[in-house]
Amino acid sequence: MRQHLFILLLFSTTAAVAQPSSEVNFYDHIAPIIHKNCTPCHQPNKSGPFSLITYEDVSKRGRFIGKVTQARYMPPFPADRKFQSYLNERGLTVGEIATIQLWIEGGMREGTKKPEQINKPIASSDEAAPDLVLKMQTPYAITGDNSEDFRFFSLPTHLPNDQYITSIEFSAGNKKLVHHSRLMVDTTNLIRGINGLAETDTKVVDFQKIALKEEFLYGWVPGNDRIHFPQGTGVKLNANADFILNMHYAPSPVASTDQSEIKLYFAKNQIEREVKNFTLRENDISNKPFIIKAGEKPTFYISKKIDKTVFLISVLPHMHLIGKSFRAFVITPTGEVVNLVKIDNWDFNWQMTYQFKNLLKIPAGSTFIVEANYDNSANNPENPFDPPKDINYGWGTTDEMLNLVVYYVED
Ligand code: HEC
Repeated sequence: MRQHLFILLLFSTTAAVAQPSSEVNFYDHIAPIIHKNCTPCHQPNKSGPFSLITYEDVSKRGRFIGKVTQARYMPPFPADRKFQSYLNERGLTVGEIATIQLWIEGGMREGTKKPEQINKPIASSDEAAPDLVLKMQTPYAITGDNSEDFRFFSLPTHLPNDQYITSIEFSAGNKKLVHHSRLMVDTTNLIRGINGLAETDTKVVDFQKIALKEEFLYGWVPGNDRIHFPQGTGVKLNANADFILNMHYAPSPVASTDQSEIKLYFAKNQIEREVKNFTLRENDISNKPFIIKAGEKPTFYISKKIDKTVFLISVLPHMHLIGKSFRAFVITPTGEVVNLVKIDNWDFNWQMTYQFKNLLKIPAGSTFIVEANYDNSANNPENPFDPPKDINYGWGTTDEMLNLVVYYVED
């Protein structure tokens, strides 16, 4: 029965698979799938740990690729696409997954390079040069003492005029150890000059009193690649503003360095609406305190009413290791439900900005609802503590958080 269903799907989805495995070859069938769905990350200077461009690259890892695509682990996209659809969604069709399987079964034939594939460099589709590249002033020395490291860096823009950002890309210098990063914007210039300040430094307490222009302009984790704001919208970047980069380095047994950079793209045309953001956070939880007791599997809820009409661009859910599932939606004053994001199998390593296909109108008086489940039992393989212990709010990976960052424009 299963077999029949499989064949049916196979023949109904794409024409490319309606052939014996011996005829499936790299240049005709596999390269188009890989280049569209994998190469944007799997190429030099992007987040993927190795390149998937040439026949050699792909056939060398053929069986592994067969496994990760069948399991839908790659391309990464944790959100449920039936709950809401997104502009930046990724995923292979059933036919594409089957084509890869047939290719492997048929011995990974190479086929013949098409004229247009000869000497053509494969770059991601949007390789226009950025308008401003901000690099950490000096390489940061990561110690090899096997501990997590949280640091702040200031990256002054020295811009003579205000600009609108239409797209942002964070490029990790050390792909192995940069765990995640958060981009903030300061217009007071009071934090300028810091270069690797530890999060535990007493100065940080003073800095945290400064009102930042943007507390969470962009959060980067591997897989959360370049973001684009919709046509006619952009984030205002004031002249002479400074970026503050909050870096999280994973524990390493060997000393290493990192010099990450931010690539900014500025508006070339008139910006009609400024992109703003707000964050639903631990303080907004309705069943506080936010303490996850050892052995328990609690669900926390956020319910927050907004008093103005907003148009949503994207959302970024955030939890740490023992997060299990996450769901966010809005209930409008007329009782309509607007789905935002649903992740059934939370994966700390794949946290993304989910950008809606069209702006989502949320009328004044609507309520945002977030529902997040955690598993602090000994059965949870992601539990950092053995035996489990109580886990509280905190920025460390083994602490927990509950955030939904919402990007929007007003009318
Ligand atoms: C959004 C960027 C991105 C895309 C798109 C992507 N990958 Fe990956 N891939 C990564 C990163 C980052 C890693 C390393 C982290 C990990 O293994 O989870 C990775 C790891 C892998 C691994 C190693 C997995 C392991 O357990 O070591 C394979 C194999 C792989 N990718 C294949 C693919 C294939 C095939 C595609 C396309 C169908 C693809 N990837 C699309 C970013 C991406």
